Parts: sequence; C-alpha cells; structure tokens
Amino acid sequence: MKALQIKKYGEIKDGLEFTETSKPEIADNDVLVAVKAAALNPIDYKLVQGHLKDMLKLDLPTGIGYDMSGEIVEIGSKVKDFKVGDEVFGRVPQEYMGTVAEFVAVDANVIAHKPDNVTFEKASSLPLAGLTAMQALKKADIKKDDRILIHAGSGGVGSFAIQYAKSIGAIVYTTTSDTNVEWVKALGADRVIDYKNEDYKEVANNLDIVFDTLGDDYTFDAFEIIKDGGKVTSIVGPPDEKTAKQMGMTDYQMPEKLSKLIKKKSAQYTLTWMQPNAPQLKEIKTLVEDRTIRPVIDLVYSFDKAVDAFEYLATGRAQGKVIVSLAETFENK
Ligand SMILES: NC(=O)c1ccc[n+]([C@@H]2O[C@H](COP(=O)([O-])OP(=O)(O)OC[C@H]3O[C@@H](n4cnc5c(N)ncnc54)[C@H](OP(=O)(O)O)[C@@H]3O)[C@@H](O)[C@H]2O)c1
Repeated sequence: MKALQIKKYGEIKDGLEFTETSKPEIADNDVLVAVKAAALNPIDYKLVQGHLKDMLKLDLPTGIGYDMSGEIVEIGSKVKDFKVGDEVFGRVPQEYMGTVAEFVAVDANVIAHKPDNVTFEKASSLPLAGLTAMQALKKADIKKDDRILIHAGSGGVGSFAIQYAKSIGAIVYTTTSDTNVEWVKALGADRVIDYKNEDYKEVANNLDIVFDTLGDDYTFDAFEIIKDGGKVTSIVGPPDEKTAKQMGMTDYQMPEKLSKLIKKKSAQYTLTWMQPNAPQLKEIKTLVEDRTIRPVIDLVYSFDKAVDAFEYLATGRAQGKVIVSLAETFENK
C-alpha cells in the first residue's frame, strides 16, 4: 500500500516521504480501515520537526497521522460492534499512528460509526480536535451560563470548542484575527475578539473558564482574567501534577510561577492530553447528526499533495481543519 512516512526528523518536506509498504496486520480486537480521509493536526508536524522527541519516542521510519475516516475492510476475531463495510471515524492510538495511508489498523474499541450526514473528509476532521475540546471543557466542568474565553477560535480545536461550549449554554468569548471574525461569529461565539486590534484582557475578564490553546504567556495571563476560584483548562501549557503522573513524568514539579498563580486565584488548573474515547466519539456523532456541531474545514488536499497540506497547517494560519482525501474526487469544503 502507499503510505506517507516520517523518514527523519527535520523540515516537513525533508522529513516526510511516500513509501510502498505492506498493509498493517490486525490483532483480534482490531479492524483494518481503508482510509478515505485523514485530518492533520499540529502534533503531526511537531513530531516530524522533532519537537516532541523527548516525550514520544518514534522508531523511524514510521507512519504519520492520527485522525481518519474510512471503511472497514477486515475485522479481528474478537470484534463485535463492527462489520466489513461499516463507515467509521476515529483518532487512532499512538501504536497505530499512520492514517495518511491507504489502510490503517486500529483497535475497534476506540472508533465509532461515522456521522451519517457528513462526508468522510468532514468526519475525519472531528476526532482529535473534537475529543480534545470536549475533554478539556469537561475537565473544567463547563456549565450553562459559564463565561468562557476560548483562545484561537478559528483553529481546529477552537472551532469545535466554541460550538460545544454554546451547546452547553455557556457565554463564549473567543480570539482570532480580523479575516476570521465573521465566520467565527457564525459558529455561535457571543463575542469575537480581533486579537490584532483589541486587547483580549480588556474585553474578556472575570471569567469562569479560560480554554488555553496557545500556551507560553497565554497560559500565565489566563489567571489575570479568571475570577477567584475560576478555571484554566489548557492543552498546551505545563502539565498539572496529576496529568504529569499519567504521562509518566516522574519527579515532575509544576513551574513555580504557575503554582503561585493557582494559589493566588484559588484556581483550578489542568492540562488535557487527549485520549481516544469511543463513547465521546459517539457523543460527537450525535452532535453532528443533530446539527449542533458542524465540522469546519479549511482545505482538502489530495493524497499525493499531503506534504503540502502539512506545510500549510504548519503556517499556523489554518481556518478550521486541513484534510487529506484519498478519494479520487472530493468536495473541497
Ligand atoms: N493536549 C492535546 O491533547 C492537544 C490536542 C490537540 C491540539 N493540541 C495543541 O493545541 C494547539 C491548537 O491546535 P489546533 O489544532 O487548534 O491548531 P491550528 O488549527 O493550527 O490553529 C490555527 C489557528 O490558530 C489561530 N491563532 C494563532 N495564533 C493566535 C493568537 N495569538 N490568538 C488567537 N488565535 C491565534 C490562527 O488564527 P489567525 O490566523 O487569525 O491568527 C489559526 O486559525 C496546538 O499547539 C496543538 O498542538 C493539543
């Protein structure tokens, strides 16, 4: 089969290469999926660039890509909930990484049937970004009428998070730049802050929750704009101690600056490191089928242009999700 692989760490165009390789073998609990579409995520190019080398040891060459939607072509002997021909979507676990390929094997316990009302391209856009947003907002125990700031509302995670937070009845502030303001507003955000022309801290403060998708100073500055007892739920900041343990980081100590801010504001701070989760994927399927959440696609690239797709995502300017389609013909949006 044809697959895109990480050959070596470095620049995206040097690190990635198409290869002819054998189809993955499936174990008893696995299914083999003929991939129709694979969504890209920043973690993919960060892996190629070697930024996550210390955290995630890769045995190169290896496949790339976590998100997929496609059709089951083979099932393991213990698989009960799926059959050959089923259309599925999911975020494959680390050991199955390699969705930018004609076929991918995956544990059937972490995937779900794809939403009936969307294309494979749109379905593939949902798992990693959707599960991340859902898990981070669930960790913050988001409730009706909570005032939340979602950073980078035009990104893959942010565009899902806005719609999910609105479905719960929260009051949503979000940041993006001028060209994205109108379409991000149309996702349901109550107040879109154009971060190049407005100071988000002046517009959004005394908040119940900040969803930190940007990291660095944004993580620390979130404590200035939450109310006392508020919550900062991050997907890019330093780990909290519990998450550090789950990530296998022994002897971890939270940065002192962060500990002090948490104490000063009597705040809750958590880092979410998303995990595949079939029940939550089913929840996403329902939210999409009842049109509470719509997938937001920026560009769809053909399989042979997958390297260009990664380079585009790595500019950090994507407006929603970037997809690689393996179909011969596909809708761009
Ligand atoms: N912990 C986890 O499990 C997990 C899971 C998923 C993602 N992540 C991480 O979360 C981050 C976001 O992921 P993503 O998929 O949403 O990324 P993405 O789709 O690449 O985000 C791109 C968007 O970010 C916006 N943006 C960039 N700088 C901004 C700023 N200063 N203020 C407001 N918006 C800004 C851009 O809008 P403009 O062009 O208007 O600036 C663009 O639309 C990444 O670092 C990713 O690695 C972590």
